[in-house]
Amino acid sequence: MEKLSPCKVNLLLNILGKRPDGYHALETILQPIAWSDRLTFEPASEDVVMTCDTPGLPVDGRNLVVRAALAFYQAAQLKPGVRIHLEKRIPMAAGLGGGSGNAATTLLALNEMAGQPLSHSQLHELAAGLGSDIPFFLQSHPALGVGRGEQIRPLEPFTALRGAWALLVHPGFGVSTAWAYQELARYPEALNGRAGRAEALIGLLNQPSLAKAGAAFYNSLEAPVFPKYPLLAVFRDFLHEHGAAVAMMSGSGSTVFALTESQSRAEQLLESLKTKFGANYWTALVAL
Ligand code: C5P
Repeated sequence: MEKLSPCKVNLLLNILGKRPDGYHALETILQPIAWSDRLTFEPASEDVVMTCDTPGLPVDGRNLVVRAALAFYQAAQLKPGVRIHLEKRIPMAAGLGGGSGNAATTLLALNEMAGQPLSHSQLHELAAGLGSDIPFFLQSHPALGVGRGEQIRPLEPFTALRGAWALLVHPGFGVSTAWAYQELARYPEALNGRAGRAEALIGLLNQPSLAKAGAAFYNSLEAPVFPKYPLLAVFRDFLHEHGAAVAMMSGSGSTVFALTESQSRAEQLLESLKTKFGANYWTALVAL
């Protein structure tokens, strides 16, 4: 069985405060992005054996794919038996949810191969236990995420994004999510965002003009991440100044993305970026 495992960007990441359990309460708007890794699943007589085309990526119990597979077999009370191959195209530690998507895709694939022993709510519970971003990838709609991000409300595709394109720019290094959240303690205003930004942005995205929604996009983690990685702020400002309707960091970074109203504008933006910064950065142009 072969499955594409797409990624996401956060159109909004509004952190509301630190919770007693150490996680952060937040509201986020997640937009699926059709840039995917490919996962292949083959039944095997025993164990979970993972391989990957990218050298250096752990394929043992440190990988969320292996952890998702083991969690699935345990919850379904089945003997493990699968070979999983991952072709990685989504950059890692990039704020794009690549690893989270791989884990969710694994849960869905193994459940399908085994004849659906687990219900959607059981899969959701397993997913949330593996990571805050994973439940989102069990479905394919844009979504509002609340709680620590694991409570997902699917939304209709946004009117303002009809015909829109995204340009993703990855600088070649990653940012640790745990570090970014820890660092937030030094930025009280970003740590304690006011609730309601998600509702406001969803309202604007359900109208035709992307430009009019521009000022309502927001990511609390830019405050702690940009001072340590100033290149990301340079990219964001450049994208803003060269025709992006929206430019911001996704998740905890390191990817910065721009939204444009058309394919040609996204292509022009990419050309300007290459002229200014050279072609040494990872970029992707994707229709929304
Ligand atoms: O849930 P997940 O394991 O993906 O989160 C990675 C890290 O990000 C957590 O260990 C925590 O430090 C931080 N985090 C947080 N609040 C959230 C989500 C993640 O503090 N809502």
